[in-house]
Amino acid sequence: MASNLTPLTSRLTLLRKPSIRFSTKAVQNLQFIPKLSRPLTPFLHRTTDFVSVHYSSCRKARAINASSQDEELVVLGIETSCDDTAAAVVRSNGEILSQVVSSQADLLVRYGGVAPKMAEEAHSLVIDQVVQEALDKAKLTEEDLSAVAVTIGPGLSLCLRVGVRKARKLAGAYALPIIGVHHMEAHALVARLFQSDLQFPFMAFLISGGHNLLVLARDLGHYIQLGTTIDDAIGEAYDKTAKWLGLDMRKSGGPAVEELAREGDEKSIKFKVPMKQHKDCNFSYAGLKTQVRLAIESKNIDAAIHVAEASEEDRKARADIAASFQRVAVLHLEEKCERAIEWAMEIEPSVKHLVVSGGVASNQYVRSRLNKIIEKKGLQLVCPPPSLCTDNGAMIAWAGIEHFRMGRYDPPPPACEPEDAVLDLRPRWPLGEELAQGRSEARSMKTARIHPSLTSLIQASMQQQQQQP
Ligand code: KG4
Ligand code: ZN
Repeated sequence: MASNLTPLTSRLTLLRKPSIRFSTKAVQNLQFIPKLSRPLTPFLHRTTDFVSVHYSSCRKARAINASSQDEELVVLGIETSCDDTAAAVVRSNGEILSQVVSSQADLLVRYGGVAPKMAEEAHSLVIDQVVQEALDKAKLTEEDLSAVAVTIGPGLSLCLRVGVRKARKLAGAYALPIIGVHHMEAHALVARLFQSDLQFPFMAFLISGGHNLLVLARDLGHYIQLGTTIDDAIGEAYDKTAKWLGLDMRKSGGPAVEELAREGDEKSIKFKVPMKQHKDCNFSYAGLKTQVRLAIESKNIDAAIHVAEASEEDRKARADIAASFQRVAVLHLEEKCERAIEWAMEIEPSVKHLVVSGGVASNQYVRSRLNKIIEKKGLQLVCPPPSLCTDNGAMIAWAGIEHFRMGRYDPPPPACEPEDAVLDLRPRWPLGEELAQGRSEARSMKTARIHPSLTSLIQASMQQQQQQP
């Protein structure tokens, strides 16, 4: 195990040699966005610059700089990376003052998935109202905020843009510092909002509509990726299964499959567990999706007939498919999670907790099955409540607070930023560097337009800081 860490460590800390994904040039390009007449604050990777910046014109930043450790920060978090428009106000003592989520359930029902252009329009329609409601519910105004945190990636760039524009407009108008947040890091860190004594290092298993991610969180902003999905994420498989089974998609597909599965026989259909022969921690749900579709076709299930209107026999057939799908989908999670714990314990034997978060973590069956594995391995499961597992603004605000305390934030944007300003959006943004041992041979290594990982940017920036006289 230790020998595998060497290449990883050198990639993390040096960033000099061109690596498979990120070259030094790529990092340099990030620091000088050439198209801009005025440099656009590129969030986290300018930590060093930030530290030396003087905020004489920024009342809020000055006050915060003086007391970055204090417990009086009040941060607005904005999230629009996928199909939920969310905002929340959180205090640095962990108090959630408000939480507002507007979901695009109607669009999900209509399209059976997220259509980027439609999602962008839906975000644009409600963003002002969602943010205002979050402030109103917190009984605060913009004047009371210490900073604004916003998801800058990964996600759909059309959707991310809506949240980032709103955050910059607000931060510009009220001279507030701004923190660019990694959506997946926020899913992991929210566990520290929910359980304040949760210390690094810990493991995180993030399972959502777009991601299956197993990471070792060594420190804030320092993650090792143990496994990821080579195609679809588990939430996508739940959503498609729900759609093909004619279930109610208004609360997204996952909860509907979970509910129907309770009526079914989970051993009735023998779906194949994906990637059993791959002794890594990566995932694949595309094949299982196909198996489910074929099973549905073979039983002549008509998705146009809603499950509520199906005959008893038809409903039973659907429930059996739902239960059998769920058993195998979760078995795949269990197998990879167990191996990932072994890998993580070799790197960091002091790990005591495994955080399970992301939309699919609100599933009771998933929680109980994973809990068995986690307990068997001598770890403790930390699972935030469903409202903090699915996409929400509180996790963004909290991740913002954590980085803010470390001095990782950008100064307020200009009060009147042009509408066509180039924004720092990171649709494909890894959280950490991949463990050499964890790289999948089955994976189509699509590396084009992948942003350098959050971990590599923070490490590079910390190194730069250390080298400064
Ligand atoms: O984290 P999230 O809100 O958004 C993404 O970042 O993707 O996760 C949404 C996903 C959807 O695929 C949804 O079907 C799934 O989480 N989900 C569930 C459950 N609740 C939400 N999947 C299975 N069981 C649930 N109870
Ligand atoms: Zn999410």
